[in-house]
Amino acid sequence: MSDYLLGIESSCDETAAAVITADGKILANVISSQIPLHARYGGVIPELASRNHLMSVSAVVRQALSEAGVSLGDVGRIAATRGPGLLGALMVGLQFAKGLAMQSGAELVAVHHVEGHITAILLEEGGEHPHGPLTFPYVALAVSGGHTSLYLVSAPGRYRVLGVTLDDAAGEAFDKVARVLGLPYPGGVEIDRLARQGDVGAIAFPRPLKGKQNLDFSFSGLKTAVKLYHDNLTAAGQPIPAADIAASFQEAVVDVLLRKSFAAAHLNGVQDVVISGGVAANSRLRTRMTELAPQAGLKGHLTRPILCTDNAAMIAGAGRFNLPLERAARLSIEPFASGQLV
Ligand code: KG4
Ligand code: ZN
Repeated sequence: MSDYLLGIESSCDETAAAVITADGKILANVISSQIPLHARYGGVIPELASRNHLMSVSAVVRQALSEAGVSLGDVGRIAATRGPGLLGALMVGLQFAKGLAMQSGAELVAVHHVEGHITAILLEEGGEHPHGPLTFPYVALAVSGGHTSLYLVSAPGRYRVLGVTLDDAAGEAFDKVARVLGLPYPGGVEIDRLARQGDVGAIAFPRPLKGKQNLDFSFSGLKTAVKLYHDNLTAAGQPIPAADIAASFQEAVVDVLLRKSFAAAHLNGVQDVVISGGVAANSRLRTRMTELAPQAGLKGHLTRPILCTDNAAMIAGAGRFNLPLERAARLSIEPFASGQLV
């Protein structure tokens, strides 16, 4: 592999391109967000996302190469997200990567989006390590708008699924609760902000699938509990304590995420626990991880916020661990909308 990798990510509403070195140093990490485009509809509109990726991908890749001071001819490997994600959106980034690789002769690797999230911490300065350096094997929580899963990462490229969500992803619950409270999309960061003025113990929302041996998640009941609480107050003509609702809801999510991540580490005899994905940017989750991991006898690691939400540096990073495809096979790679990382 040459010294430089180009990553391309287009699975949802961010068109992103990044250039990293083979040892994981980030030279450029360009993210063009479509959030303002989708916000007026309260969520991502897949067709709009695809069209927008198409309009931006070329400029975003060019900007990443130029910021890194690297020409396409110097890129030894191109890594693009293959899935899971919005099919049309994925198709744009992946086909663009195929074309670039065909033209430049670079190797092409297709990357699982969640592999990007759970290995972003391995990029140089990729994380905050309040309890010491990261060692393998580690337990990784991938928690975003599309995923809430626990993995055992025994080495780069070696993963085992320990738990998955049975219904909504945690980020999806954040976004839906935000909508109930009348906050703009995407709601996770808005809830994070509002919750700072609220009382985490004000309302006892449920902690779903509490059992210590159960590493699966479920957030749909919690989301409904918040909506019912809100609707009952509205029907009774009472004021809505939005900050307390935000803080108490967020506390329930954080509580479940950390409890299960710690249980996963204990059940697998692992000391190091990593949080990754968009929801891992949540300030309360980060604070509680730092406070509680040592009490559980564990070392907590926080992926840097810019590498938590969707980006292409993590895709390039994960692309280092995958085998490149033969030139002739490249045209046969197809995007996929869903799928487990095993
Ligand atoms: O990883 P990501 O950018 O995209 C997916 O792969 O889904 O995650 C996006 C999700 C959204 O649901 C967003 O509301 C949530 O991450 N999110 C947050 C925060 N920042 C982003 N949730 C809670 N607190 C935050 N600070
Ligand atoms: Zn993601």
